Amino acid sequence: MRDYKRSLQHYEEALKVIPMGTSTFSKNPNLFTIGACPLFIKSAKGCRLTDLDGNEYIDYGMALAPVILGYAHSEVDSAAKAGIDEGLIFTLACPEEAELASKVIELVPCAEMVRFAKNGSDVCEGAIRLARNYTGKLKVMTVNGYHGFHDWFIASTPRNKGVPSVMAEWIINHPFNDIDSIEATIKKSADEIAVLIMEPVINYEPKPNFLKKIRELTEQNNIILIFDEMKTGFRLDVGGAQKYFNVIPDLAVYAKALANGYPLSMLAGSKKLMQQLEDENCFLSASYATEKASIKAALTTLEIIQRDQVLAHIWRIGERLKQGIAALINKHGVSSVLKIVGYPPMSHFIITESNGQTVNEIKSYMQQECAERGLLFIGYHHPSFAHQEKEIDQTLAIYDEVMKLLRQSLEKGDLKEKLKGRPISAFGVRR
Ligand SMILES: Cc1ncc(COP(=O)(O)O)c(C=O)c1O
Repeated sequence: MRDYKRSLQHYEEALKVIPMGTSTFSKNPNLFTIGACPLFIKSAKGCRLTDLDGNEYIDYGMALAPVILGYAHSEVDSAAKAGIDEGLIFTLACPEEAELASKVIELVPCAEMVRFAKNGSDVCEGAIRLARNYTGKLKVMTVNGYHGFHDWFIASTPRNKGVPSVMAEWIINHPFNDIDSIEATIKKSADEIAVLIMEPVINYEPKPNFLKKIRELTEQNNIILIFDEMKTGFRLDVGGAQKYFNVIPDLAVYAKALANGYPLSMLAGSKKLMQQLEDENCFLSASYATEKASIKAALTTLEIIQRDQVLAHIWRIGERLKQGIAALINKHGVSSVLKIVGYPPMSHFIITESNGQTVNEIKSYMQQECAERGLLFIGYHHPSFAHQEKEIDQTLAIYDEVMKLLRQSLEKGDLKEKLKGRPISAFGVRR
């Protein structure tokens, strides 16, 4: 049996110096089965992680999606190291910044100009600011996505302590795939709405014409459309979801797969909107945005994605995984609690409570049993270029065993007693 002693010891120490034990919400141990799965990772290579106790796992989180080529990718890391050796960051900007902007403009349909930053939250906020300044309007429509921790957005969520409550009044949220509610809001309040920001895919696929209709409605009503492509960008298609669905927003924000895990985010869009930033009073700036290691990593990542047809691989391997999981759900008769949804490059389990067993208890049980067998289960899959047939075979073999156990436990009603750790006690960032 695997043990997680060092993870647990480290968690206790980390809690003394870092609230929640880590600075990244989605990595905080409350989202994991404390005592029955790893809580900290020591190193990673390809698509495999090694935890503090020396246990190895196949990973599909890929650091919350950025690591599209695989961990410790030698070509990307060499490019980043060259950036470090050249001095990393200077008193003036480096030429690679415009080189990367040109590359992005070549790939991303809405991109006529580009700005870089470090976090997704930064560029989401920048995009909203450009839309408000351009339209002279205030309100923001959202479509159940996550757009970072800044006040303008987080005010509208339950995670809003310390944020002026008035800001929540400026956000109107809508369910994903519900075009009627979006149309109703626009009809009622178009003269107040500056912008609609959305993730083009949230777990489920968008219904046919959902995105096209949103594009039409926003265009007709002087509402700026922003696609938050943090997850879909350079994953669904090299040009992002906008290219995949052929629906072109006014602005789009990216991070994650852009630089294979190096910290870099990006705001891209039409000249008329982006050029507002030439007025120094329309402000978006980040001290570390021109840091060369990440920019060089991004240039190399984009080159490899195109050169090696990375996304074709990810779609193919992701499809095998998704189909395999669907077949196992059928085989073990667990479709009342488990579903697999979404596009192959970003498939998700939908877990439903059953007979007094909560979603988090079922998820914890799966996490515990998968961890024991060498798979870090987080409820979704971001396959990378490093995942090969062998990993898919291993993953499906593990899911086969774990779903069999799940079925038995659900039938006996003893799932809670079988938990060896503290069940997951938090929910992710999406509403
Ligand atoms: C869709 C989306 N938008 C925005 C963000 C915020 O990015 P960051 O955490 O880099 O600020 C995230 C982060 O996960 C995200 O998934």
